[in-house]
Order: sequence, then structure tokens, then C-alpha cells
Amino acid sequence: MKIWPINYLFLLISGFTVICVTSVEEELSDTFHVNFLEPLKNLSPQRVKVRGVHAKFSLRKPALPDDDMCYIVPGKEESLGKCSFNTTAKTFLVIHGWTVSGLFESWVAKLVAALYSREKDANVIVVDWLNTAQNHYALAAQSTQKVGQEVAHFIDWIEEMTNIPLDKLHLIGYNLGAHVAGFAGSYANNKVGRITGLDPAGPDFEGVHAHQRLSPDDAVFVDVLHTFSRGSLGLSIGIEQPVGHVDIYPNGGSFQPGCNLQGALKKVANLGLLAMNEAIRCEHERSVHLFIDSLLNEEEASKAYRCASSDMFNRGMCLKCRKDRCNTVGYDARRIRRARSIKMFTKTRAAMPFRVHHYQLKIRFQVQTNQSETEPTITVSLYGTNGSVTNFQLDVKGKITPNKTHSFLLVTEEDIGDLQMMKMRMEDSSRRPVSSLISTAWSWWNGDSSCSEIKAKKISIRTGETQKKMMFCLKESKKASLSPEVTFVKCTAWGKSCRR
Ligand SMILES: *[C@@H]1O[C@H](CO)[C@@H](O)[C@H](O)[C@H]1NC(C)=O
Ligand SMILES: *[C@@H]1O[C@H](CO)[C@@H](O)[C@H](O)[C@H]1NC(C)=O
Ligand SMILES: *[C@@H]1O[C@H](CO)[C@@H](O)[C@H](O)[C@H]1NC(C)=O
Ligand SMILES: *[C@@H]1O[C@H](CO)[C@@H](O)[C@H](O)[C@H]1NC(C)=O
Repeated sequence: MKIWPINYLFLLISGFTVICVTSVEEELSDTFHVNFLEPLKNLSPQRVKVRGVHAKFSLRKPALPDDDMCYIVPGKEESLGKCSFNTTAKTFLVIHGWTVSGLFESWVAKLVAALYSREKDANVIVVDWLNTAQNHYALAAQSTQKVGQEVAHFIDWIEEMTNIPLDKLHLIGYNLGAHVAGFAGSYANNKVGRITGLDPAGPDFEGVHAHQRLSPDDAVFVDVLHTFSRGSLGLSIGIEQPVGHVDIYPNGGSFQPGCNLQGALKKVANLGLLAMNEAIRCEHERSVHLFIDSLLNEEEASKAYRCASSDMFNRGMCLKCRKDRCNTVGYDARRIRRARSIKMFTKTRAAMPFRVHHYQLKIRFQVQTNQSETEPTITVSLYGTNGSVTNFQLDVKGKITPNKTHSFLLVTEEDIGDLQMMKMRMEDSSRRPVSSLISTAWSWWNGDSSCSEIKAKKISIRTGETQKKMMFCLKESKKASLSPEVTFVKCTAWGKSCRR
């Protein structure tokens, strides 16, 4: 059995990646073949014809979000009345993805309940295509088009029967379900209002033509959360490319906090597949829980920021909201006109509520000694009207270059209120406090060049969530040169005298 982990990793890396998730715990050892290798046998190029998919449409009730009590059957008008379909309310279609177990995963009921808690009168309909979705991955993936057509047929019929305006129709699809939603949108007679793709499946969809996957053409507004994209290790359970009008990549679209994928990977040789499976499932399904969070914690909605790359975002360079550059994560995402394939980023906590507060610190290191490059460890503490965050280590990527403005991202889990003060400590790579450097060699600059001749020792801080920008000035202290930690306070007076 020792060789399984190696095989498993090989399979993952070779792109047949959806061999992950669902409840494989029990049957792990002996039925390894059945669960993991079997699906691959059907990856042969000629594709199997799929017929008779038969998606079912279960209108769930707020009191029983887990139970299928009433099916709406296209062609049977009386089923609408029987299920108490509300023709003036919003309608959600929740579409699941690929499944090994053939059962609904636990997130379905959670999402249904969350939708009802936000939209009391809504019709939350779960699209059940489990029979087809439990096929080998390749076959299930190929069936998304057929299932999508059935869903489109359902939409056309319900529109004809009830005259509901399609802008009140919102399709929410996870994994393969996102592509089902895409096909449904493209085959429906009229354009549906919104499709939300929750980590749309990657294998067999990455890089294909827009007609063959979820795309911005499929609804008036298509928003997508990517939580497990190829970025991590060449795995691609979720699709990496943007496929909507707005594509949000929480934590860069990979390595979600609390999922410990990195840890599981390191231990895969001895701890094995269990930890690995759990981690992968956690990453992929995080998209659903972020969406649920946005429904339940409206007041604490996460914000995402447009950015060219995850790396730039991690350096705090993208926290400006001007010109639609930021948006709300999840249910309250705003439609942006003419937008298409916009990549947005955000950081999250490890658990619900997921929101964090983002800060950009801009610091200019003015080195007067002839030390050309250093890579110090910089930790900062922020103190606000409502709390503080202490000893946050800045990610000093690469070397610090003298006389250049560097930008850093700092996130806090708590809302610490309006910033009042900050402290900073620097140590060089050898962990020697650079106290001597602080007083003589480093100074702080505010980014407004007109100030530079004043030798202002400043740090500029922008808060993403409030869009407030503040200057912090080095608090002069006789003891400064002796301490590795320096204090900065708000410098309103300075700021004014410096503005151009
Ligand atoms: C149907 O939904 C509307 C809101 O769109 C609500 O005002 C009304 O009470 C609902 N009707 C029933 C019977 O629940
Ligand atoms: C940085 O700027 C200061 C003041 O402008 C100057 O004295 C110093 O030599 C510069 N350092 C480097 C390495 O260019
Ligand atoms: C700084 O270092 C460079 C080479 O690294 C050297 O050429 C230059 O003379 C030095 N300047 C001072 C002031 O030490
Ligand atoms: C600070 O906390 C108090 C109560 O704890 C709250 O009323 C107030 O809104 C908070 N202020 C900010 C800026 O978060």
C-alpha cells in the first residue's frame, strides 16, 4: 500500500484531479481502485453518448431545508400550486456538482437555509441531477450540457406559466453545477438575471471555448468565486481562468486558511490520503461557505479588490476603490457595466464570518549608509479606537531597496476602528535589532514627493474597507536610538503642510 500516495499524487498532478472529495474515508484502503482509478478508465477520447438525464426540481421549504418534499415538474402546471411556488418572489436554482456518493453534500441544505434567511419569500429550488453526476468524472462533465438544456427547458416553461421576470432568477452552481448553470443560461429563451459560479470545475473546461463552459454571455450578471484553482501545485479542481463578469479569487484562489492543504501535502507520504482529501474538499467547498457567509452576515460583507495579480495584491498595491475597482464578495456583489473577466482578490479568515480588514502600508526606506540591500524582518502593531493588532509580520518579498517606496499588505480579523497609532520593529536577517539603523539610516516617507525635502519620517496607511488614508509620523523620542521599536502617531498637522 505504500505506493498509493505516490500514485495519487501523480494522478493529481497529471490533471485528472477531481478524484478528490466526497466521503471516501470508509472505503479508503481496499476499494482504492474503485474510487480513484476506475474513473480514469473512461477518459478515452471517444465520448459516450448521454441520454435521459432527468434533472429534478425540488422546491425546498424554509423549515425543512434538507428535505425534498415537493417537486416541480415541467409540463405539469398543478405542481407549481402544489409546491406553493410564489410567482412574485425571487427564484433561486441551486445546482450541485460531481459526486462520488450520489448523495447531496451537506452544504446544499446550508445554502438553502441561508438563502431563505435572507430572502424569506423566495422559491429556493434544488436541481437534482445526482444520477448523472455520480458517473465517472469525464462522463459527468460531458453531461453538463444536457443537464443545462433540461434546466433551460424548465426555466422557459416556468417563465411561460408564471410570467416571472427573469431578472428575479438566480442560478447558483458549484463545481460542475456552475457549468450546468452556464449551459442553462445559454439555452434559455430569454437571458436569466444572474449566475453565480462557486469554484466552477476546471478539468475538461479550462481553456475551452466560452460556449463550452460558464461564460459572461450566459446571464446578465455572472459572478464567480475561485477557491481552488491551479495556482496551487498544478492541481486544477476549480477553473483558474476568469469565466464571469466579476471573478473573485479569495486568498489568491488557492490555499484557503483553515484548510491546511500545505500541511496535508507535506504529510501525504505518511498520513496519507485522508488528510489530503479533507484539505482538497475544504478548499473547493470554501467557495460555497463564502457565499453562505455573505447571505448570513450581510453587515460584515467581505470586500474584494481588482488587481492584476495575486502577488501585487499581497503587496497591498490594490486597495483603491475608485472606478469600480472594488466589489462585495458573494450575494451582494454589484454588477459592473461592461466589465468582463475582471480578477479581484481578497483575504479571508479561516472560518465564518470570513471578513478581514485590509490595510496598505507605504514605507520609503531611506538608507544613507552604503548598505545597498537588506532583508529585515519587519513587524508592526496597529492601535485603533476599538482595539489593536500586534506583532503582525510584514511580508518583505525580496530585498528592501533604499530610497524606494515599498508597499505592504496587512490584514486584521477584528475591526479595530479608526487608527490612532502604530509601532514598528525591525530586525535584520540575522535577527539583530537594527536599532542603530533606525535612527540614522532609515526614515519614513509619505509618498507625496513635495514633502521629501522636509525629511518627513512617515508611513502612509490606506484602509481598504473604509477607503481612509492616513499619515503616521515618527514620534520623536530621545530613547529611539536605543530601542528596536519605534512609534508612529497620526500627523494631521504635517499632512496639511505637505499637501500640494
Ligand atoms: C410572495 O412574495 C411576495 C414578495 O415578492 C410577498 O410579498 C408575498 O407575501 C408572497 N406570497 C406568499 C403567499 O408567500
Ligand atoms: C538615499 O537618499 C538620501 C537622501 O536623499 C541620500 O543621502 C542617500 O545617499 C541615498 N541612498 C542611496 C543608497 O541612494
Ligand atoms: C559604496 O559601495 C560601493 C560598492 O559597493 C563603492 O564603490 C563606494 O565607494 C561605496 N561608497 C562609500 C561612501 O562607501
Ligand atoms: C467601536 O465599538 C463600539 C462598541 O464596542 C461600537 O459602538 C462602535 O461602533 C465601534 N466603532 C468602530 C469605529 O468600529
